[in-house]
Amino acid sequence: MEFTTLLEGIVARMRTAPDKGRVADYIPELASVDPDQFGIALALADGRFFAAGDADTAFSIQSVSKVFTLALALGRLGDGLWHRVGREPSGLPFNSILQLEHEKGIPRNPFINAGALVVTDAILAGHQPREVLGEILRFVRAAADDEHIHIDEAVARSETDHGHRNMALAYFLAAHGNFVNSPELTCGTYFHQCAIEMTVRQLAMAGRFLVGGPGKPNLISRDSVRRINALMLTCGHYDGSGDFAYRVGLPGKSGVGGGILVIAPGRASIAVWSPGLNQHGNSALGTLAVEHLARETGWSIF
Ligand code: DON
Repeated sequence: MEFTTLLEGIVARMRTAPDKGRVADYIPELASVDPDQFGIALALADGRFFAAGDADTAFSIQSVSKVFTLALALGRLGDGLWHRVGREPSGLPFNSILQLEHEKGIPRNPFINAGALVVTDAILAGHQPREVLGEILRFVRAAADDEHIHIDEAVARSETDHGHRNMALAYFLAAHGNFVNSPELTCGTYFHQCAIEMTVRQLAMAGRFLVGGPGKPNLISRDSVRRINALMLTCGHYDGSGDFAYRVGLPGKSGVGGGILVIAPGRASIAVWSPGLNQHGNSALGTLAVEHLARETGWSIF
C-alpha cells in the first residue's frame, strides 16, 4: 500500500468536497477557526508514519480528550468506575440531559458530556485541578512521545464563560449523589482537558497506545485497550455512532474542534481534522476521509 499517495489523494478530494459542514460556535473561541483546513496522519503499528494536508496546525481536541481521561480513570478505579457511568450508546446528542432524569443520574456512557464529567470528577477526587491536569498532560505527552502538547487557555476560558449546559449537567449529577467534587471544580478541570491542543501528527502518535500489539506505548492494560476501543465504536460519535460504524467500521472518537481519533486495531492509529461539523457535532470531512481510507485499506473490522 502506497500510504503517501493514499493520504495525498484524500487531501485533494477533501479540498473540493461540496459540504464542509459547520464550525462549532457555542464555544466562541472555536467559531473563528478557518473551516478550509484539513489534515490527516497515520501512525502504523510497524512504526512507519505518514501525514498530509494541514498536519502541523494545532486544533482543540475537545471530546477526543475523553479517551485519555477514560484511560486514566480505568487505570485508577478499574471496574469501580462502572458504578457511576454506563456502557451503552445514548442515541441522543452529546450534551443532552434527558436520560439523566430517568436513569438516576447515571450517564449512559463515558463519552457523552455527562459521562465524561463523571470520569473527570472521578480522577479529580479531592486533588487540585492543577495536579490532575498535569497528570492528563503527562499521559497525553507520554502517549504521543512529545513534550510540546499544551492547553489553550483562551479556549478553556471561552468554554468556562459559556459552559452553562455542562454546569447544569454537573449540578444534576451532584443532585443525584454522583459527584464527588464541586461542579465548579470538576467543570473547570473538564474545560481545560477539552482545551488541549494538538496537531493530527501528535494525535495519531498519541493514539498508538490503543492499537494493541508489541512496540506500542504500554500505558494501560490489554483489557483496557480492548474495552476502550469497544466503547469508541459504540459510543464515540454519540448519536452518530451507528452511522460512523456503518461507514467506517472502526472505533473512533470525535471532538467539536473537528478532530477524530480512529483506531485500526493491530494496524494503525489515525488522526484526521477538519473543523466543519455534521448534524451530530462530528467532523463532516473527517468522517468522509476515514470512510475513504478504510475502504482503500480494507481496514474495517467487519
Ligand atoms: O463539553 C463540551 O461541550 C465540549 N468541551 C466538548 C464537546 C465535544 O467535543 C463533542 N464532540 N464532538
